[in-house]
Amino acid sequence: MNIKESLSYLMKKLKEANIATYGIDAMIILKLSINKDELFCLTNPEYRLNEKEIETLKELLAKRKKKYPMAYIQHIKEFYGFELYVDENVLIPRPETELLVDTTLELAKRFINPKILDVGTGSGAIAISLSKILNTTVFASDISFNALLIAKKNARKLNADIQLINADTLSFLNTKIDIIVSNPPYIDEKEYNNLQDDVKFEPKKALITKNGTEIIEKLIKEAKHLCKYLILEIGYNQEDFVKSFDCFYDLKKDFSNLPRVAVFKF
Ligand SMILES: C[S@@+](CC[C@H](N)C(=O)[O-])C[C@H]1O[C@@H](n2cnc3c(N)ncnc32)[C@H](O)[C@@H]1O
Repeated sequence: MNIKESLSYLMKKLKEANIATYGIDAMIILKLSINKDELFCLTNPEYRLNEKEIETLKELLAKRKKKYPMAYIQHIKEFYGFELYVDENVLIPRPETELLVDTTLELAKRFINPKILDVGTGSGAIAISLSKILNTTVFASDISFNALLIAKKNARKLNADIQLINADTLSFLNTKIDIIVSNPPYIDEKEYNNLQDDVKFEPKKALITKNGTEIIEKLIKEAKHLCKYLILEIGYNQEDFVKSFDCFYDLKKDFSNLPRVAVFKF
């Protein structure tokens, strides 16, 4: 099989598997299988894949046909202009989470050298973006040790100054912080089966919490004496819930006009 044939084969198989992004995905799978860039693929249609390359191509195709996320296949996800390494240990950062960074940057202007903590940092997306933009140390915690290893890898790759802590919510915090930001798990276990197939490859602990609200509620209660502002990403159906707290301060909607970020002031 040469490059031209491989590309047609990949596109056909991905289309049959109802992968909407079959064209882009086919090119990425081809590039990864032969370890060459797009320009090489486009200018060398007659290049013949060797056995090892065909084997890799078939393995990646089989994964993608089952809706395995492209971000895990490539080990790359861009967030706030930064290219992050991702694998199955971490949630794939979502574009709507950039609103959490925007909101934090806005509130950070109210402090001189703001002390910021990102709870449930995962890949480090939020903490790394804030640290790079504000040119400061950002604290980043997660209950998952494996996620912290990925955040560490990303911080090194991007030369970001983040301090990692392995902990359950705010249990470890014994000093005051200006801003606590978090994209916590906020999906109800009952909704899990309705999630798209590709989401089910992501760590369940990064997505699910009791009633969809347990961790949000815990963070609000614990943050009360520990920070000035708590900024949380929330689910589309959690506006009334977050507004029921006395400390509720502000709500931001995302580009789909859905409630996405809740701010609490203490
Ligand atoms: C929705 S993911 C967010 C990851 C990353 N911040 C982002 O926005 O892409 C939630 C993260 O919270 C972590 N987590 C879940 N329960 C936690 C807890 N009780 N305490 C601290 N972190 C927790 C998960 O391991 C996961 O990395």
